[in-house]
Amino acid sequence: MRNAHYALSAADARALLAAAPAVHLAALSEGQPDGRPILRVLNGAVLDDAIYFHGAPVGEKTLAVGRPCVVSWEETVAQIPSYFVDPERACPATTFYRSVQVHGLLRPVADRNTKARALGALMAARQPEGGHVPITAEHPLYAKALDGLLVLAVDLADLTGKAKLGQNRSPEQLVRVLEGLWRRGEPGDARAIDLVRQANPRVPEPPFLEAPPGLRLLCAPPAALAPQAAALLAGTYWNGSFSLETLAASHVGSSAWVAAVDADERLVATARALSDGVKRAWIYDVCVAPERRGTGLGKRIVSLILDHPVVRHARWVGLSTRDAHGLYERFGFANRSSLPSPGYTATDMVLLRP
Ligand SMILES: CC(C)(COP(=O)(O)OP(=O)(O)OC[C@H]1O[C@@H](n2cnc3c(N)ncnc32)[C@H](O)[C@@H]1OP(=O)(O)O)[C@@H](O)C(=O)NCCC(=O)NCCS
Repeated sequence: MRNAHYALSAADARALLAAAPAVHLAALSEGQPDGRPILRVLNGAVLDDAIYFHGAPVGEKTLAVGRPCVVSWEETVAQIPSYFVDPERACPATTFYRSVQVHGLLRPVADRNTKARALGALMAARQPEGGHVPITAEHPLYAKALDGLLVLAVDLADLTGKAKLGQNRSPEQLVRVLEGLWRRGEPGDARAIDLVRQANPRVPEPPFLEAPPGLRLLCAPPAALAPQAAALLAGTYWNGSFSLETLAASHVGSSAWVAAVDADERLVATARALSDGVKRAWIYDVCVAPERRGTGLGKRIVSLILDHPVVRHARWVGLSTRDAHGLYERFGFANRSSLPSPGYTATDMVLLRP
């Protein structure tokens, strides 16, 4: 790779490939008219040290068996308009992305056990909920399919990954990019902010992400942190009856979720919101780890969730709390009963499910 600072670690490149919803496979093929290259979009499953594909034993793919090929996938993280960085020149416009490439030989897989495991890995990736008899080499349900299907593999020995996330920009420019993404607030922008900061750890925090010393605010925490949010909230007076799984899933399923982590990536504060983006939003599950309270983190996490792109334009923002009213009053919240009557009488109704 021309610029080493764009390179992904082998583990990150493998993880990106394994998470790809589909990949491109390109190969030169002798069997094609004029030696034309073939390019296919395929489902692939990463297993052991290879990526596996399946298909019918006839067709274009088979023409490339035993030939050098390249497998690739890329994820657009964010389109960065020039005006985030320069109000006049078009030149700074760019795309932030992550990509992965594997060069190797497209080899056929003959061993029935390996075929069964590869097809099992494909099912696990595309149908993680199960709902089928597990694929094994011996099972009579699959004997015919295993013999009839073509399974191909490309070894991962020559796997490279790239993350172009502003590593060539000055810290001042990157802070402007982060601010621009937060203000723009299109779907994916909050996650892009967290990815750009991970790739550029020395870039100063933009004001909206300033945190108490030693902590980092995340505007789109990865789902892997949801169990930690659940653990922090378990046993709070308003969450008594919910399981850890339900609490974790409620964070992943929220319109907005923000968190703070310490230097060891342990979650120490969290807040989430449901919002329609323009009319109404509701804040839930604001919580700071007991040992971190009283240092201003509660104020920062509430400020971040209120300024979140999907919450900041809501005209009506609600929350319900037994205490800490002072914390919310400083952001303009008031007791609902103290507000002017809407001019009609309505009853809040609730459907409770077991
Ligand atoms: C409420 C909570 C989020 C505050 O977090 P924190 O990090 O301690 O808050 P901060 O240090 O940013 O302080 C915020 C301000 O609110 C005030 N405050 C904090 N907790 C308060 C409480 N329980 N009652 C009244 N005021 C409170 C602080 O005194 C501070 O005011 P100040 O700046 O004038 O001194 C935290 O105590 C917590 O997680 N509590 C348990 C969960 C909870 O009750 N959540 C609220 C229900 S949604």
